[in-house]
Amino acid sequence: MQTTETTGFTPHTPLVLGMMRLHDHPGLIKPARLADWVAARLDEGLDVFDHADIYGGGECERLFGDALRAHPLLGKKVRIITKAGIVPASQDRSPWKVKHYRAEAGYLKDAIDRALASLAVEKIDTFLIHRPDPLMQVDEVARALERAVSAGKVRQIGVSNFLPEQWRWLAANTELPLACNQSQLSLAHSDPLFDGTLEAHLADGLHWLAWSPLGGGKLADRIPTDVLDRAREETGLDETGLAISWLRQIPGTPVPVLGSMNPDRIHSALHGARYDLPRPIWYRLLEAVRNKAVA
Ligand SMILES: NC(=O)c1ccc[n+]([C@@H]2O[C@H](COP(=O)([O-])OP(=O)(O)OC[C@H]3O[C@@H](n4cnc5c(N)ncnc54)[C@H](OP(=O)(O)O)[C@@H]3O)[C@@H](O)[C@H]2O)c1
Repeated sequence: MQTTETTGFTPHTPLVLGMMRLHDHPGLIKPARLADWVAARLDEGLDVFDHADIYGGGECERLFGDALRAHPLLGKKVRIITKAGIVPASQDRSPWKVKHYRAEAGYLKDAIDRALASLAVEKIDTFLIHRPDPLMQVDEVARALERAVSAGKVRQIGVSNFLPEQWRWLAANTELPLACNQSQLSLAHSDPLFDGTLEAHLADGLHWLAWSPLGGGKLADRIPTDVLDRAREETGLDETGLAISWLRQIPGTPVPVLGSMNPDRIHSALHGARYDLPRPIWYRLLEAVRNKAVA
């Protein structure tokens, strides 16, 4: 399959900032406040922001766009990932009101246009199909994505939550290289390291963007205090830094998609992203969270 060395998700990209929880932060609802927050992240060297059309029922993309509309220079500096293809039950216009997937050519084309307008950017850096859709007509979807790239609306494409054979099927049907697969990976969700998923990413040269790297906030409670204290003392990292450092040791250097918007936690995560975690601590954390030693 075709991959590219110029995807922009290099081992030097320490973190992607996830925007799924943006609408939950009252302090960032005002465009000027959010613009300041974005500018502070850019100053830290973090310029990739992860969105999806369904986050906050569409509010997250719109709020982010309002900040960029208020401060157009920021729009030239940020790199946007966004995704589409999931229709929540509440947004199903049929009488069935059923949650479903729409990896359909026309739907994705419209979703890209909507995202460009909501986010107030000229180009989406990376557009992802949010979930594999068993009803996807791969050739039609591939042509729609190719048209979006050649029209300059999207720089590169990727997938999210795809299994290896699912991304390979798309890759086999398009000339476009796939930039990444965004899927769940953390100390709290480590099975993909033991079932061949890791090796599939590496073999295909697909960058792994790891969502919920802190287990959605539940990870810290799953590390026993004695292990946490000892690891903290030896590394100087807090629980956030340890979780991020743990991810970054994995071959291919997965890029965490961090959901926190708290500057202190982002700082801890950045510290962790640059720390080389010794192998015994890596395994001790894994053992502690899984509550069992490796075989
Ligand atoms: N592709 C997909 O299907 C998919 C699915 C889910 C998510 N995502 C992406 O991944 C991003 C991250 O997901 P996520 O938000 O679940 O990631 P996360 O980074 O694992 O979790 C962040 C959340 O955990 C809280 N938290 C972290 N450490 C904590 C601690 N020690 N104590 C209390 N709370 C703590 C944060 O609160 P604070 O704000 O207080 O720090 C924040 O609410 C999303 O924004 C989205 O962009 C993608």
